[in-house]
Amino acid sequence: MAATRTLSRVWPSDSRLDERGRLQVGGCDAIELAERFGTPAYVYAEDDVRARSREFVEAFRARTEHFEVLFASKAFPCTAAYRIMAEEGLACDVASGGELHLALAGGFAPERIYMHGNNKTPAELEYALNAGVGHVVIDNFTELEWLEANAPGQKVLLRVTPGISGDTHSFISTGQADSKFGFGMDDVAGAIERIDRLELRGLHAHIGSQLLDVAPFEELGKLLASMGDYPLLNLGGGLGIAYTEDDDPPSVEDFAEAMLSNAPDGVTVLCEPGRALVGNAGVTLYRVGAVKEIPGVRTYVAVDGGMSDNLRPMLYGARYEAEIADRFGGSDVVTVAGMHCESGDILIRDVSIESPRTGDVLVIPATGAYGHAMANNYNGVPRPPVIFCSGGEAREVVRRETYEDLTYRDV
Ligand code: LLP
Repeated sequence: MAATRTLSRVWPSDSRLDERGRLQVGGCDAIELAERFGTPAYVYAEDDVRARSREFVEAFRARTEHFEVLFASKAFPCTAAYRIMAEEGLACDVASGGELHLALAGGFAPERIYMHGNNKTPAELEYALNAGVGHVVIDNFTELEWLEANAPGQKVLLRVTPGISGDTHSFISTGQADSKFGFGMDDVAGAIERIDRLELRGLHAHIGSQLLDVAPFEELGKLLASMGDYPLLNLGGGLGIAYTEDDDPPSVEDFAEAMLSNAPDGVTVLCEPGRALVGNAGVTLYRVGAVKEIPGVRTYVAVDGGMSDNLRPMLYGARYEAEIADRFGGSDVVTVAGMHCESGDILIRDVSIESPRTGDVLVIPATGAYGHAMANNYNGVPRPPVIFCSGGEAREVVRRETYEDLTYRDV
C-alpha cells in the first residue's frame, strides 16, 4: 500500500495526499480534475457531504426521537446537493422562490420544506402554497396578514428575534434585537393573537452564522421553550466550521447537545445547519497565472477566479488557507489575488505556500458553503462548474457557464 497523508479538518474528510504528494478529493486527482473540467472549479467529496448529513442526524437521534435536521440550502443551492440531502432523510429550509424551485427540482417532497424569508413576495408565497410547502416561517405582520387572508389552514412557524447574539461578523449576526428578521420579543404576543385561520406549529429563531461556541444555542432553547407550548421549536443553524487550522469549531455532538438541552418533553426540535454540512466538503481549484514580486513589499500570485466565485474574503474579511495541489506545505509567504478589476479582489493575504509558479493548480479548502451560492458574473466571468467526486469517479453536477450564457437573457 503506497504511503499517503491525511489532511487537517479544514479539508474534505475524504481527501488525502497520494504517494506523490498530490491532492486527491473523493479519490480523484485534483490536477487531473483541473485539466478535465478547467478552472476555477468547485470540487466536492460527495461521501463527505453524506457523512456530515448522517453525523447530524445520528447526533440528534442518539439523544431524542423528536427532532428534524433541515438542510439550510442557501449554503449550497444546487439540485445535486438537494438530492443528497433528501436521500439522507433531511428536511429543507429555503429562503426564496428560487431556492424552493431548486429544492423541488432536487427531489424534496414539498411537505418536507420550510419556507423562510424576511420579505417573501405574494408571488413567492403563492408559489409555496401551490407547491404544498409544509411550513411557512412567518417573519412579519405584513406576511401574517397576507397568509391569514389567503392561506387558511397553512402550517406556520413564527420567527422571533430573541435578543441573543453569538460572536460573529455583524453581517451574519441575526439574533440581536436590532435585526431586519423576525418579530421582536415585544411583538410576539400580538402576532400570536392575530393568528386565526393559520395553524401555528411553533417558533423559530436563528441567531447567526459561523458560531464557534454552542452556549447561545442553549440559551436560545431555554428562551423559546419558555414562550409557550408548541409541538415544534426551530433553533436555526449557524454551527461554525474550520476555515483555517486555527479555527476550533464545536463538534456536531456538542451542537446537538446544546440544542436539545432545554427542550421540553415531546417537543420536536428542529435545527438548520448549512455551512457545517457542506463547507469543509468542498474545495476550489484555480490555475496560477501571473506571479508578481514587488521586492520588499509582497508577492502577488494571481489566479483565474476571485470575488466572482468567493465573495467571503471581501464581504466578511474571511480567512482561508491555500496549497499548491502537488506541493503541500512550504513557507513562501504570498498574497493570492483574483483576476477582477478591483484592488480589493484578494482571496488570501499572506499565506504560506510552496514556490507558486505559473501553471500550478492552487487549491483553497473550505469553500463548499456560500461559494457557489454567492457566485456572480462580475467582469463577465462565467461561473465555475460544480464537480462531485466519489470513489475515484468525478461527475459534473453543474456545468461551467459559457460566454453564450452571458448573453442568453438579452432581449
Ligand atoms: N437558518 C436561517 C434562518 C438562516 O438565515 C441561515 C443562514 C441558516 C439557517 C444557516 O446558517 P449556517 O448553518 O450556514 O451558518 N453568506 C454568509 C452566511 C449567511 C447566512 C445567512 N443565514 C457567509 O458566507 O458566511
